[in-house]
Amino acid sequence: MSSQLAIFLLWLLCATMFHRGACGTNFHLVCNEKDRSALQIFKLGVVNHSNKLPSWSSQQDCCSWKGVHCDNITGRVTRLDLKQQYLEGEINLSLLQIQFLSYLDLSLNGFTSLSAPFDAHASFSNVQFLDLSFNDDLHVDNLHWLNQLSSLKYLNLSEINLQNESNWLQSMQMHPSLLELRLASCHLTNISPSIKFVNFSSLLSLDLSGNHFDSELPYWLFNLTTISNIDLSFNFLKGSLPKSLLSLGNLKSLRLHDNEINGSIPEWLGQHEHLQYLGLSENMFVGSIPSSIGNLSSLVDLSISSSSLSGNLPTSLGQLFNLKSLFIGGESLSGVLHENHFSNLSNLEALVLNAPFSFDLTSDWIPPFQLEGISLSNAKLGPKFPEWLYTQHSLVYLEVPNSSISSINGDQFWRFVANITQLNLSKNNISADLTNITLNSQLIFMDHNNFTGGLPHISANIIYLDLSHNSFYGPIAPLFCHKLGSQNNLDYLDISFNLLTGGVPDCWEYWRGLSFLFMESNMLTGELPPSIATFIDLIALDLHNNSLSGHFSLDLSNITNLEFINIKQNNFSGTVPTKMPRAMEVMLLGSNQFEGNIPTQLCNLSSLIQLDLFHNNLSGPIPPCISDIPSMGGAQRTSHYPFEFNLYNKGQELQYEDYGLLRTLDLSSNNLSGEIPSQVFSLVQLQSLNLSRNHFTGKISREIGSMKNLESLDLSSNELYGEIPGSISSISFLSFLNMSYNDFTGQIPVGTQLQSLNASSFAGNPRLCGAPLPINCTQGSGNVEVSKQYAGSNDDAFETESLYLGTGVGFAVGFWGLWASLFLNRTWRRVYIRFLNYGAHKLHVFVDSKLKALVAHH
Ligand SMILES: *[C@@H]1O[C@H](CO)[C@@H](O)[C@H](O)[C@H]1NC(C)=O
Ligand SMILES: *[C@@H]1O[C@H](CO)[C@@H](O)[C@H](O)[C@H]1NC(C)=O
Ligand SMILES: *[C@@H]1O[C@H](CO)[C@@H](O)[C@H](O)[C@H]1NC(C)=O
Ligand SMILES: *[C@@H]1O[C@H](CO)[C@@H](O)[C@H](O)[C@H]1NC(C)=O
Ligand SMILES: *[C@@H]1O[C@H](CO)[C@@H](O)[C@H](O)[C@H]1NC(C)=O
Ligand SMILES: *[C@@H]1O[C@H](CO)[C@@H](O)[C@H](O)[C@H]1NC(C)=O
Ligand SMILES: *[C@@H]1O[C@H](CO)[C@@H](O)[C@H](O)[C@H]1NC(C)=O
Ligand SMILES: *[C@@H]1O[C@H](CO)[C@@H](O)[C@H](O)[C@H]1NC(C)=O
Ligand SMILES: *[C@@H]1O[C@H](CO)[C@@H](O)[C@H](O)[C@H]1NC(C)=O
Ligand SMILES: *[C@@H]1O[C@H](CO)[C@@H](O)[C@H](O)[C@H]1NC(C)=O
Ligand SMILES: *[C@@H]1O[C@H](CO)[C@@H](O)[C@H](O)[C@H]1NC(C)=O
Repeated sequence: MSSQLAIFLLWLLCATMFHRGACGTNFHLVCNEKDRSALQIFKLGVVNHSNKLPSWSSQQDCCSWKGVHCDNITGRVTRLDLKQQYLEGEINLSLLQIQFLSYLDLSLNGFTSLSAPFDAHASFSNVQFLDLSFNDDLHVDNLHWLNQLSSLKYLNLSEINLQNESNWLQSMQMHPSLLELRLASCHLTNISPSIKFVNFSSLLSLDLSGNHFDSELPYWLFNLTTISNIDLSFNFLKGSLPKSLLSLGNLKSLRLHDNEINGSIPEWLGQHEHLQYLGLSENMFVGSIPSSIGNLSSLVDLSISSSSLSGNLPTSLGQLFNLKSLFIGGESLSGVLHENHFSNLSNLEALVLNAPFSFDLTSDWIPPFQLEGISLSNAKLGPKFPEWLYTQHSLVYLEVPNSSISSINGDQFWRFVANITQLNLSKNNISADLTNITLNSQLIFMDHNNFTGGLPHISANIIYLDLSHNSFYGPIAPLFCHKLGSQNNLDYLDISFNLLTGGVPDCWEYWRGLSFLFMESNMLTGELPPSIATFIDLIALDLHNNSLSGHFSLDLSNITNLEFINIKQNNFSGTVPTKMPRAMEVMLLGSNQFEGNIPTQLCNLSSLIQLDLFHNNLSGPIPPCISDIPSMGGAQRTSHYPFEFNLYNKGQELQYEDYGLLRTLDLSSNNLSGEIPSQVFSLVQLQSLNLSRNHFTGKISREIGSMKNLESLDLSSNELYGEIPGSISSISFLSFLNMSYNDFTGQIPVGTQLQSLNASSFAGNPRLCGAPLPINCTQGSGNVEVSKQYAGSNDDAFETESLYLGTGVGFAVGFWGLWASLFLNRTWRRVYIRFLNYGAHKLHVFVDSKLKALVAHH
């Protein structure tokens, strides 16, 4: 009996037996007592539940609680849907005891634990839909409890940590009725490649992407004869594509991208006539793309890329009439593309070719498609911007970086790109004068070209603008003082590495929203106007390598998000600026003419991780309060940065955290004097300390040994004396050390990596002896063997530890190599990473959903 009919009969009964008002439309359900108490047990596990689930009060009928759905006849709870409710705490699966519960969705929350009552005899046979996905910090040790759900059809545990459940496939076997199974990014490692047969053979959809599977495609996969969607992308799957794939005759979607599958792309793939989605990009395929792919006439989305693919695109691809998105990439692909390659692609919306193809397309070619997005990177497109692109009137996304374009047809080109959302022309060699041009796209990448003239005008639509590494000249005022009103959206502006001259204008009132401003490596002069302090949204400011001057007396303390400032290599004078916001993390003031003492106010910058005062005229001592800077000192590495950007690269989470968080203190090349306060040595988070070329005197405190993270230490060219403390040898990552040109005495501590450093590290200390110096220590040179000297002292611990860690200099040097290459680019890296995170979010807002999918492929 359908429920509508039941309701009708009930109503009829009600209407005939009682008077209308008691039943009718106000017919009221009261929640079942057992259901209510199971829900209440669940509620107790939710942290702060009275705030998070206010409607779940005992005064109210539980059928009206948020997310709870009751059957409108029986009044029993059938569904619980608390997707994305910001819930934290524990999931108590006593919920499953709700007798008629068929649908449970707790996805996209912040639950961190799961308690599952396990009773081998219980069976919760009504649950058909279970979604606990995207509770990223939830670790589930085993899936035994799943066995009790005998009618499960939809199971989604994606983005839950199942790393300790090695028998996950076994658990799935208990569910022959499964239709959809999603275990994406679950940290699974074993796909059981040799199991031949699985018992969930009615499966339609299987998503195991983003795990750590590193074997060949498993046998059992080919037993899922009804399956229509397979996603195994972002794993480490190996081997070649086996012909047994042909037994999956209903396959509509096959995503194998971002793996290590090798061998050739088989000719027989063309027999999969139902395929609509084929994702083979970012693998290790060799050989050429078979022309049989052109037989996949249902194909809507095709992606293939590999660095070892060779040859040209088969012209048969031009027959794929239904194709909407085509992505081909590989630096060894080659050949010339003709009209034939595109002849029937009249539904194409997104075209991404990232390969050094040449194009033989006549200037009057009218393509069959109207694209929304096109990306032709590393292609041989130039020297002229291709005429046929002008026929595309709906472009949202135009990307032609590094495509050897050097000329554009001025008026036509700028009118054409004006309405495009994202424009990428970087790394071409386009020469054009932009003095009278107005840019309008939201995201613009025009760096590394030969654009010249004055800076272009910009419209209020622009969010991201990179004009760096060009030949723009003249003042920056026309760009900035061009009144856009308060509606402008500019968030990221890079005009660095140009030939810009003149002063920094005083017309910043329209640019409050700007967060990233890069103007380094130009020829800007004069003082900074105080109005720069009104950039209240600024996060990063780079002005280094210009000729700016004047006292830097700006009060930036109200720019509460400012974390990065680089004004190195200018002519700023006066005292070291101190009016900085507390969020400041990176402050680079080197190579200016700052004078006076190191101000104690710097010690209040509690987030500071990089301070560079190199090559100024500073005098006086290092203030002992320096040890108050918690992010340089302190025992723990703090990690409050919201932008730890996990780049999902083939399942490996590349932690950018460390790259962005190098901690460095550089006070070198000043006139600083006095003893080095021992507080400096309690900055145990520092990776680089440079105090060279000053007038420091005195002995070095043994506490220097506690700077365990130090990789580079430069104390050269001072007036330090005494023995080099043996504790220095316990700094296990130390791979650059310069103690030269002081007046150290005695023996260089032995038994550690210090001996493998270059002798020049210790040169200019005539009374120092021992390896690596070519001077043998004599009886009278004062220092006995280090290990004896420190025997029984606390330093013993240091020695032992360094032996353990001291897999030797090889390790340390290797580490340094990595560090140094990253160091070169530290500011960029940091800000770029920050932007990626932030920009990725914004991209989602603009770029059409189809393009979003495309972007996600790369
Ligand atoms: C509980 O919620 C209140 C109000 O939203 C909040 O102030 C409090 O910090 C929360 N407590 C916990 C432990 O999250
Ligand atoms: C009862 O539930 C069914 C399905 O959930 C719905 O279609 C129907 O409109 C409901 N009836 C009433 C009176 O709410
Ligand atoms: C979960 O609920 C059950 C009652 O069904 C209770 O016995 C158990 O202690 C709860 N688990 C936790 C960890 O609170
Ligand atoms: C989890 O998977 C189910 C079934 O495939 C799907 O309906 C649901 O939308 C997925 N949940 C999320 C949060 O994506
Ligand atoms: C897996 O088990 C090991 C050993 O019992 C434990 O140390 C680790 O924390 C567990 N990992 C997860 C993600 O639960
Ligand atoms: C699936 O497995 C069963 C049992 O091993 C076997 O009989 C059947 O042939 C397999 N089907 C396919 C398509 O491999
Ligand atoms: C750009 O968009 C505006 C308004 O949406 C429209 O008036 C104009 O014609 C468009 N320009 C081009 C070249 O498509
Ligand atoms: C820019 O416009 C001005 C005024 O219309 C004109 O004099 C000048 O020649 C133009 N410059 C360029 C490079 O087109
Ligand atoms: C850049 O453009 C100028 C003229 O605008 C030209 O003289 C110069 O040769 C170009 N540079 C390169 C590298 O093409
Ligand atoms: C900083 O903000 C405070 C409070 O809004 C204000 O009184 C002060 O004048 C501001 N300082 C500067 C330099 O803008
Ligand atoms: C240092 O001593 C070693 C032997 O202990 C000897 O072979 C070497 O020649 C001496 N070097 C110098 C510079 O005296």
